[in-house]
Amino acid sequence: MAITYDTPSARPHTGNGLVFPPGFLWGAATAAYQVEGAVAEDGRTPSIWDTFSHTPGKVRNGDTGDTAVDHYHRMPEDVALMAGLGLGAYRFSVSWPRVQPTGRGPAVQKGLDFYRRLTDELLDKGIQPVVTLYHWDLPQHLEDAGGWPERATAQRFAEYAGIMADALGDRVKLWTTLNEPWCSAFLGYGSGVHAPGRTEPAATLRAAHHLNLAHGLGVQALRAALPSSARTSVSLNLHHVRPLTDDPQDLDAARRIDAIANRVFTGPMLRGAYPEDLQADTAHVDDWSFVRDGDLAQIHQPLDALGVNYYSPTLVSASGSGTDAGADGHGASDHSPWTGADNVAFHRTPGGTTAMGWTIDPGGLEELLLRVHADFPGLTLYITENGAAFDDYVNPEGEVRDPERIEYLRGHLAAAHRAIGAGVDLRGYFQWSLLDNFEWAYGYGKRFGAVYVDYATQTRIPKASAHWYSRVARSGIVPL
Ligand code: NOJ
Repeated sequence: MAITYDTPSARPHTGNGLVFPPGFLWGAATAAYQVEGAVAEDGRTPSIWDTFSHTPGKVRNGDTGDTAVDHYHRMPEDVALMAGLGLGAYRFSVSWPRVQPTGRGPAVQKGLDFYRRLTDELLDKGIQPVVTLYHWDLPQHLEDAGGWPERATAQRFAEYAGIMADALGDRVKLWTTLNEPWCSAFLGYGSGVHAPGRTEPAATLRAAHHLNLAHGLGVQALRAALPSSARTSVSLNLHHVRPLTDDPQDLDAARRIDAIANRVFTGPMLRGAYPEDLQADTAHVDDWSFVRDGDLAQIHQPLDALGVNYYSPTLVSASGSGTDAGADGHGASDHSPWTGADNVAFHRTPGGTTAMGWTIDPGGLEELLLRVHADFPGLTLYITENGAAFDDYVNPEGEVRDPERIEYLRGHLAAAHRAIGAGVDLRGYFQWSLLDNFEWAYGYGKRFGAVYVDYATQTRIPKASAHWYSRVARSGIVPL
C-alpha cells in the first residue's frame, strides 16, 4: 500500500500499525461558541453562553467567547490548516443566534453566508463537512422565554433545523441535531455550572425531555428538506458507568447513573420509550406529566448514525456524598447535576489523568462501543469527540511537543480498532478539538487542540500530535 507523508519528520510505515477500514473518516471537531468570536457581528445576538460567561464568577478568569480564536474571521486560514493536515472531515456547529437572532422567524443571510462559505471552502479542499445544529448556544431570547424546560423551544429548534437544511442541504451529507444534550439539561439546569446556570431539578428533567423532542422534530425537519441521501445523527456523551464493587448497592448506583445519563436519551431516541426505572428513580422530582401523548413517536425517528463522545469512564458506588467530578468532568459544584440519582458517590478511576483531571482509560472507549453495539445492533457509530487537554506550551524552537497527547490518541484509536475488529460498525473518528479554544466554564486555560493557539496573537501552531494525527489521517494506519 502506497503511503504519502507531508511532514519532514514522517517515517515510512514499518508494518507495525493498525490498519483502519477504507473510507474511515478522520476528522477534527469544534463548536461555534468555542471558536468563532465575532459575537456582535452581522446581526448575531447573545446566546445563553454570552450571558453566562459575562456573569462574574461563572467562568474561570472571567474568560468569554467574545473573541475566542477568531475563527469567524480566520476561517479560510483554518480550513487551509485542516487541508494541510490531511483531515478528511470537519465537524463544526452552527451558532443558532447568528442565523436566527431571536430564535424564531426568518434567517439572517449574513449568518447563513458564513456557514455556506465554510462549507464551500471545506468541499473545495476535499474535506467533508459534518454539521451539528446545537452545541449549547441557545439564543438568549429563547432562554428569556423559558429555555429548554419549555416545550416551545423544541418547536423553535425544528424551525431552525429546517432553515439550516434549506441553506446547506445541497452540500452537507451528515447532520447532527444535538451535541451532548446531557450537558445542556443537567449542567445547564441541574448543577448550573453551564449556561444558563439554573439549579432546578424538575426543570432539568423537563429540559431533557424537550431536548429529546427537539431532536425528533429536528430530524423530521431535516428529512423534509434534505435530499434522501443525507444522513442524520445525534452526538451523545454516553457515560461508561462502572460500579466500584459488585455489591448490589453499587450495581444499583451504576444502574441509576446509566438511566439518568444514558438511557434518558437513548431510550426515547432509539427505542421510543423512557426507561421505567428512570421514571421511578425520579418520581419524587417530577411526575413526568410533561411527556404528552404522541411525544415518543415524534422523538423516535430512524437515525443513520449515532455520534459517541468519550473522554473518561464514570466510577460510582452507593451512598456517601459525591467525591468529585462526573464523567464529563464538569461536576465540581455545590449542586449535583444528577437529578434523581441521590446517594451516589463518584470516584476517580485509577490511572494517569489529563489536565482536566480526567482519567486516561482507552479500555473504557472499547467497552462503551461494544456495549452500544450490543444494545443497538446494526447502528452505525462515529466517535464524534475524543481528545485530551494538556498543559501545552511553545518551546524556544517554536514547537509544541505533546507526547502525552500522541499516546492518548494512539491508545484510544487502538481501542476503536479493537471495537471494529469485534464487529462494531464504526465509521469515523473526530479529535476534540481542531484548535485550542474556549473550554466552557474552564475558559482558555485548558488546551484540547491539535493546533496550539497563541491567544494574544491568534497564531496557530500545529502541535507534534497534529503531525502524528496527520500521518494517521493520510494513511489510515495508526502506528504502534
Ligand atoms: C464535550 C463538548 O462537546 C465540548 O464542547 C467540550 O469542549 C469537550 N467535551 C471537552 O470538555
